[in-house]
Amino acid sequence: MSDQFDRDIKRAGTNSTKFDGRLGTFGNANVMPLWVADMDFAVPAEVTHALIERATHPIYGYTLFPESLYQSLIDWVWLRYHWKIEREWIIFSPGVVPSLTATIMSLTQAGEQVIIQPPVYFPFFSAVTKTERQLILNPLHLEQGRYTIDFDQLEQIGTNARILLFCSPHNPVGRVWNKSELAQLIEIANKHNWVIISDEIHADLVYPENQHHPLASLTENPENIITAIAPSKTFNIPGLHLSALIVPNKAHRAAITHFFDIIHVSAANPFSIVAFETAYRKGATWLDELMLYLKNTRDHVNAYLTEHLPDIHLIKPEGTYLLWLDCRALHMNDKQLKHFFVHEAEVGLSPGALFGNNGSGFMRMNIGTPRHNIMAALENIRKAYNRVKIRSGRIL
Ligand SMILES: Cc1ncc(COP(=O)(O)O)c(C=O)c1O
Repeated sequence: MSDQFDRDIKRAGTNSTKFDGRLGTFGNANVMPLWVADMDFAVPAEVTHALIERATHPIYGYTLFPESLYQSLIDWVWLRYHWKIEREWIIFSPGVVPSLTATIMSLTQAGEQVIIQPPVYFPFFSAVTKTERQLILNPLHLEQGRYTIDFDQLEQIGTNARILLFCSPHNPVGRVWNKSELAQLIEIANKHNWVIISDEIHADLVYPENQHHPLASLTENPENIITAIAPSKTFNIPGLHLSALIVPNKAHRAAITHFFDIIHVSAANPFSIVAFETAYRKGATWLDELMLYLKNTRDHVNAYLTEHLPDIHLIKPEGTYLLWLDCRALHMNDKQLKHFFVHEAEVGLSPGALFGNNGSGFMRMNIGTPRHNIMAALENIRKAYNRVKIRSGRIL
């Protein structure tokens, strides 16, 4: 049966980072692009229709955030997560990464400590180092194919920290943290008086057998938890640049709003607000179908690797459309791995080493594309690996 997500849509030539940035990033314009985290799927039809309707009004002037936009977010987190947020807690922003940086700059001074948990989305590093704060690492622990938080190490290193920058669900390892892990994190944070910035941009992209819990929804007193959330990854509208911070603490809100005022950034534009609200109000069915499709792709990849490419092992994700591939059994260093995927297999993945030292030997694959592309990429990888092995005499 044909599926809406099987449809091929040509993106090359649309100034797409993922497609038109291939030569610049990989030095090979022919790689199959499975890197930057957006998807090759058409957004919910309702979103496109609403944008077209807005475009027919021929003036695209300075724009306000309507009350209905706030309400669409309040309703979404209530319906999906049973989390009740207040209208005053919401600060709109032009993206989650700018929100992380703005929050760090608003709530800490240069030299103060911020904890991150690598391997992790690489702007987490730069959000700390570029703002001249001190990076403190609490590396995730990999055991029997599953990543967990090293709470003992976290307790030890965190005494002087101000902020924990938390990724939930986690990019790239695909963990959807469970309630007991989240409760333990809150307990430690309270003990040390940290602010937690919880980046929950992947919250909605959770496979049917798992459940995301907004961190701040698990405590009676969420004053020290700031949540970053957006429909951008969920509904494939990240190029429109609108996200939200949920900030229950009044003083934090004042500091962050002041920061955005200083740099004179308003995230409102005539199109971003329409897509944001329509996606949250009308996209739920599309999202449920998407997650079934992605689950199927994830399981196909797992089966393929097990049968045909056992030297690459999938760290099975509980959420996100990003697969974390353990390539250590290929016995290549990071430079060789990169060369192998880009020039032998012609598949453009994100090198694991980008996500921290403990990402070395891993690659991240974005499966947000029709499944036949993913299966073709796996075939390319298998054939290229066989060629390499024959050349190096490993299977002769
Ligand atoms: C964890 C995480 N946070 C933030 C972003 C990017 O957010 P934005 O485009 O809103 O800055 C991504 C994109 O991949 C991500 O994975």
